[in-house]
Amino acid sequence: MTKFRLFGSTSKEVSKREIEHRALARWVAAEGMVLLKNDNVLPFQESNIALYGAGARMTVRGGTGSGDMQERFSVTIEQGLINVGYKLVAPRWLDRFDHQYAEEKENWRQGIEERIKVYPPWKVQQMFDEVIHVTPLKFPIGDKIQYEDLSSETDTAIYVVARQAGESADRRLEPGDYLLSEVERDNIEILSKNYKNFLLVINSGGLTDLSCLNGYQNLGAILYFVQGGEEGGNAFADLVSGAANPSGKLTTTWANCYEDYPSALEYSYLNGNLEEENYKEGIFVGYRHFDNFGIEPQFPFGFGLSYTTFSHRVMKVDVNGTSISTQVEIANTGVKYVGKEVLQLYAAKPNGKLSHEKRSLAAFAKTKLLAPGESKPLTLTFNFCDLSSYDEDQSAWILEKGEYGLFLGNSSRSIEPIAVIILDENVIKEKCVSICPLPLKLNELKTDLPSEVYSENLPRLFINSCEIESIIHKYEKPGIKSHHLLANLSDSELAELCVGGGYPASTYNITPGCAGRTSVKLQKRGIPNVNFADGPAGLNLTPQIVILRNGSSRYIESVPEAWRWGWIKKFEPLIKAKPGKGRPVYQFMTAWPCTTLQAQTWNEALIEEVGSAIGVEMLEVGVTLWLAPAMNIHRNPLCGRNFEYYSEDPLLTGKMAVAVTRGVQSHSGIGVTLKHFCCNNQEDNREHVSSNVSERALREVYLRGFYYAVTQAKPWAIMSSYNKVNGVYTANSADLLTKVLRNEWSFNGVVMTDWNSTGDGKGSHVLCTSAGNDLIMPGGRAARNALLKAMKDARLEKEDVRQCAANVLEMIFKSVVINGS
Ligand code: BGC
Repeated sequence: MTKFRLFGSTSKEVSKREIEHRALARWVAAEGMVLLKNDNVLPFQESNIALYGAGARMTVRGGTGSGDMQERFSVTIEQGLINVGYKLVAPRWLDRFDHQYAEEKENWRQGIEERIKVYPPWKVQQMFDEVIHVTPLKFPIGDKIQYEDLSSETDTAIYVVARQAGESADRRLEPGDYLLSEVERDNIEILSKNYKNFLLVINSGGLTDLSCLNGYQNLGAILYFVQGGEEGGNAFADLVSGAANPSGKLTTTWANCYEDYPSALEYSYLNGNLEEENYKEGIFVGYRHFDNFGIEPQFPFGFGLSYTTFSHRVMKVDVNGTSISTQVEIANTGVKYVGKEVLQLYAAKPNGKLSHEKRSLAAFAKTKLLAPGESKPLTLTFNFCDLSSYDEDQSAWILEKGEYGLFLGNSSRSIEPIAVIILDENVIKEKCVSICPLPLKLNELKTDLPSEVYSENLPRLFINSCEIESIIHKYEKPGIKSHHLLANLSDSELAELCVGGGYPASTYNITPGCAGRTSVKLQKRGIPNVNFADGPAGLNLTPQIVILRNGSSRYIESVPEAWRWGWIKKFEPLIKAKPGKGRPVYQFMTAWPCTTLQAQTWNEALIEEVGSAIGVEMLEVGVTLWLAPAMNIHRNPLCGRNFEYYSEDPLLTGKMAVAVTRGVQSHSGIGVTLKHFCCNNQEDNREHVSSNVSERALREVYLRGFYYAVTQAKPWAIMSSYNKVNGVYTANSADLLTKVLRNEWSFNGVVMTDWNSTGDGKGSHVLCTSAGNDLIMPGGRAARNALLKAMKDARLEKEDVRQCAANVLEMIFKSVVINGS
């Protein structure tokens, strides 16, 4: 009998799939980087370049933590420039930086060694935790550029500011992190004074405060590189050389000053309270805040430059039932560069009982490549009902009668009114029940902007309230799915199905390095394990390993980070592969540009292609669920995981998640896992913090993206988050997991917890199962026993356990790994 099953490749050769996916990753990265400023600097005209800055040679291609990648190799900015033929003429500063980096790394290494010295052998797990969860190496900044570092062989210079962040820690409002350090400011000043053509590059998953540069003369160009994945350097070279034309647009507002963000001073560690995070800004997140309170952003939401120019003409606005479509003719009015443009449609709601954001994104569309002088039609469509707002008094989504303005343009601050839609009567769109009661009074921000007054020349279109279907939701436990294996399972086996498979020495389906799996103990009952892999920059898996005849693994070439410290190092010979022994498994997965960079493409078709490519890789390595897309809202620029998330806007977030989900799930037998559901907008103390948020903001801002993804793309799974919402852990919230997800949105898949978010003073294992959280991850004996005991003590209904188990069973047997479809 086969004891285990392997996937991946037995050959280390670079595959055709790798080459094709690299090409796609390069295209996506180039399409997502945003050109923020360009005073005739780009594309470069010279072939010699003076290159400086921490991210030039050590380009950060993604964030740390589970969203990291282990790709075959990555192209740095320096390498990318060399690849397309640039001559780099000022290496002195970069060579010096190499030494500083090496030194910094050595200090960091010694710091860890010092801390783990005290651990006795039986505390090996704590030692691993210390190593894995320790503060990642802080990226050095480098020193001040000296006169001798400048080159006389060119007028063109680049300075790359680099930042890295990741799980478990928020970024700091300090020089060297969110703020530029003094050395960086000096260097930017020196370079911008000494080189005629100066480009500043921001290589960071989150925003960096650039307001201190406002007075600088000759700051010629700024490019938001974000984190470009393994092809970032090549994509950069494509852009600066003019082989590609920037078409990315910001997905988050870049403020002039940090305090302009409404959550600024109370965010995370800044107010000294890591237990309660009060979302006092309500629905005024991102551009909604800047617009309503008349604050000028440094770079607005939706903004991004091109090497060419575009013009557009509205041909027609049509109403068909509740579907509104705007047909536009868009032209590339430049003479030299082919390019793409993103048109954005914003809507303004009439003031009625509720006050509103001044405008919100309602639709967007991106052109194909347009040649100079070429014009093409473009259609932007949305459903009028998506403009509904949540009225807490009535527990309902409502549309108030009056005039709805439509505005078209190419950023949230560069728009013109194009039409007015008139709704004749107030409508209750969906009748819900109230959820997640607030434990305190929030005193939310309010605005009293007068309703917009529209010119009489604008076309008026009418929506008849009778055309709008009203829904009254029913709140009941969803029925238990039938599965022929369910009836024969003992209580203990049912409980076993509701917890993940942990990290056992051997499993049936083997995907080395996967983050989790379903139970491995039910194989004899005909239920093998299926595997889950992070997310979201690709598939984060061990790239090369050997599997021995007994199913255990040995590392080829290098051992993982956790094994390189203290006395554990001595184990290296035991866990390294011996030549000729075992079956090699190679899984070189693509490191895609980070999620924010992907969203900055505003290109749904392209992101669907990325999803499909990730699906191909999942099939290759036997992964059933991808632990992505991650879709929390960019509430504050200091969130340590913003690079893993799309935007401050729920519609854009939802559309991107729909696109990638459709791509992955276009392959049968595999699925995505939307995460982290919901309000996981802070990393410091993420396992205990309560996100206190009004029901309106919760539903309109933080749940809305998930709503689009669930209802339009039918994801296989959802991951609840670490945090509490209004005092209740999300994994234990029947309001979120049953009432909203299953009753209102008809979600029919599996809900799993985030890793180790239950037990040990965090969420309760038992409440997960009764709330509708089917799978406790990563799993293990404690969770299984807690469920079993609660069933025995009648604290947990067996029907609830059967329901969760049935959802998990259905997912396992839908998997391509199990049924081979
Ligand atoms: C992260 C999740 C991830 C999981 C498994 C957690 O720490 O929050 O996003 O999917 O680990 O690696």
